[in-house]
Amino acid sequence: MTLREWLAQAEAQLSAGPHQDLAKRDAETLLLHVIGKNKAWLMAHAEDDFAGCSAIRYAGLIERRRKGEPIQYITGECEFYGLTFRVTSDVLIPRPETEHLVEKIIELATPGAINLEEMLEGPQNPGAPSFRRSLPEGWESTNPTPPIRILDVGTGSGAIAIALAIKLPNAILTAIDVSQSALAIARGNATRNNLAEQIRFLHGDLLAPVAGEQFDIIVSNPPYVPEPDRDSLSIEVRDHEPALALFAGIDGLEIYHRLIPAAFTALAPGGSIALEIGYGQQPAIHSLHTEAKFSGIQFTPDLQGIPRVAVARRLQI
Ligand SMILES: C[S@@+](CC[C@H](N)C(=O)[O-])C[C@H]1O[C@@H](n2cnc3c(N)ncnc32)[C@H](O)[C@@H]1O
Repeated sequence: MTLREWLAQAEAQLSAGPHQDLAKRDAETLLLHVIGKNKAWLMAHAEDDFAGCSAIRYAGLIERRRKGEPIQYITGECEFYGLTFRVTSDVLIPRPETEHLVEKIIELATPGAINLEEMLEGPQNPGAPSFRRSLPEGWESTNPTPPIRILDVGTGSGAIAIALAIKLPNAILTAIDVSQSALAIARGNATRNNLAEQIRFLHGDLLAPVAGEQFDIIVSNPPYVPEPDRDSLSIEVRDHEPALALFAGIDGLEIYHRLIPAAFTALAPGGSIALEIGYGQQPAIHSLHTEAKFSGIQFTPDLQGIPRVAVARRLQI
């Protein structure tokens, strides 16, 4: 059989599965994955014969997909924030909406640096006020801008922490997960991106591994699906993604109840918390922040207009 014939056969098989609409794309993605070539190569070689171990492997992958396994677990890779992450069924597949959370942290972490730059005289700011001149000799070496301390709780594949480490090279990052197998994947992803030195990965429950430490920003995309919603999830999510990464009690709020007060204690005065939240959770999340004495609670909607990111500040000392 030729590559074209294999592709057509795979598409027909997938059309009988739970994701008919994606059959053509999935058949092609998996074929390119097995042969290790790009689409242009495939178009030029569509009439080549395809047989042997690779063809058997392709048939096996198509069967997994037909049964509803996410394509990212089958290829072992997914894209997030323009980066490629290794994923297995030990970790949640990072979602595009979580990129809003990363954007929010970058926004929170950047204004200080920008303001300071604007205040400093230099080739980029010839007319800037003489702030630098009023500083004592040797100020820069003795008082560099302190690095921002960021904590990612429930890091999974490490997607958030790694994207932040790349975008904020001066930040000090700590990432925690209660799953040892997820942490192994996250560490591997950090190493692949040459960030093993920049991120400290710790095992444990919520903020327990960093008891007594202080942070400037705490970020988390914790499990937030209500247990009763289990049956309404797609087969891909329900039967393949780790339950530990998805469910949080009867109302989906179990983790937030513990995480929000613990984060308040661990934040330095002036520090911020940024959380991803689920559909319909805005009122409860607002109350939990208020009870924990957070200020300036704001919600940012995702592209569907659903409040997706909650940000608040610790003002009190
Ligand atoms: C929804 S996933 C998010 C993963 C990753 N942050 C992302 O956005 O792709 C939630 C993660 O929280 C972890 N987790 C669940 N309960 C936890 C707990 N009590 N303490 C620390 N991590 C926890 C899970 O193992 C999972 O990796």
